[in-house]
Amino acid sequence: MVSRHADVQAANRDTGAFSALDGPSLGSPPEMRGTMLVSMDGKPHTRQRKLISAGFTPRMVGRLEEQARTWAVQILDRALEKGSCDFVQEVAYQLPMHMIADIVGIPQEDRGFLFDLTQKILAGGDPETPGGLEKSRAIQAQMFGYAQQLGREKRANPQDDIWTLLQTVEVETEDGERHRLGELELDMFFFLLTLAGSETTRSAIAGGLLALHENPDQLARLRREGVTRAAVEEIVRFTSPVAYFARRATRDTEIRGVPIAEGQRISLWYPSANRDEDAFDEPFRFDVGRSPNHHVAFGGGGPHFCLGANLARREITILFEELLKRTREIEVLEAPTWRALSIYNPILTYMKELPVRLAAA
Ligand code: HEM
Repeated sequence: MVSRHADVQAANRDTGAFSALDGPSLGSPPEMRGTMLVSMDGKPHTRQRKLISAGFTPRMVGRLEEQARTWAVQILDRALEKGSCDFVQEVAYQLPMHMIADIVGIPQEDRGFLFDLTQKILAGGDPETPGGLEKSRAIQAQMFGYAQQLGREKRANPQDDIWTLLQTVEVETEDGERHRLGELELDMFFFLLTLAGSETTRSAIAGGLLALHENPDQLARLRREGVTRAAVEEIVRFTSPVAYFARRATRDTEIRGVPIAEGQRISLWYPSANRDEDAFDEPFRFDVGRSPNHHVAFGGGGPHFCLGANLARREITILFEELLKRTREIEVLEAPTWRALSIYNPILTYMKELPVRLAAA
């Protein structure tokens, strides 16, 4: 377990000593090796990343600004009408879910069903969920079936979205051959985009609201000064939605004097690095004006750095801007409940429910 900020950053960038091939999760099955962006190294990783990175540049995300604001207003108006709601499911989850679905090209009428599958796959790791992992695998197969069907529709009727692009694009292999993405690669891409694009930002928004509620002076500052870039970075640092990403040592090495043998797995703990007193003054204080704020919530600056960071930042900014504009008071009705992806694999540890009452401005 790598827990210090400097070590997380160094290991994340040292692709010579640490490989991502076995995937980000300590529980990844061996057949997932090299099948998705997060479990690739070197040139194959760069090539796959390039396929979709153009969809996530600040310019492209800027173009989605209006769309994101329209979604945010719609979601908040609905919550305000109800008065009290579960902020996690009914607000925080909705904006990232619709935005990633718009980008990937998932029709609106399918979103409830599809993202319900994502939640069920995640819940499969939870000991409270009946059916457990086996059921979660069956649901994953159902999701892949949906992705393949949607792919056939996009090939027949191409649209300006990522799923159309990935159906038709060709990648070049080491030996110069060009080929389309295989079925498993496409399935895993679909899973990664829908999961990474929705679950993480939801946790940042929900955790951000809780942090603001627990720090009324910071909430007052946000209302006064607006949702600044510094405030958004602090929400991301403080909530650190991804608990860890794993790597495998490709040679004998050491971290802070601890020997790591070739073949051993290491895990980089982002929330811990983001609370490292060597890197942050008073790391446990939630400070919306914190500067500098070199957090590692989106990764430590290596080649796998979060592709959706710009998108996540815009979504958080817009959601809080519209929320503060529309509310006079935000009351947390009960303490939140939490869930780890699984007791064996807490790669995501997130808020499950946060009952709130929103009073309109
Ligand atoms: C606050 C929200 C988010 C957080 C905290 C977060 C965090 C992370 C982290 C820690 C990584 C691994 C970095 C590494 O290994 O160096 C990552 C990778 C990734 N993220 Fe995010 N993420 C967020 C939102 C998003 C969104 C909205 C998308 C939209 C598609 C996204 C897509 C991805 C992808 C595709 C990768 C893999 C990149 C690669 O392997 O090259 N993320 N993210």
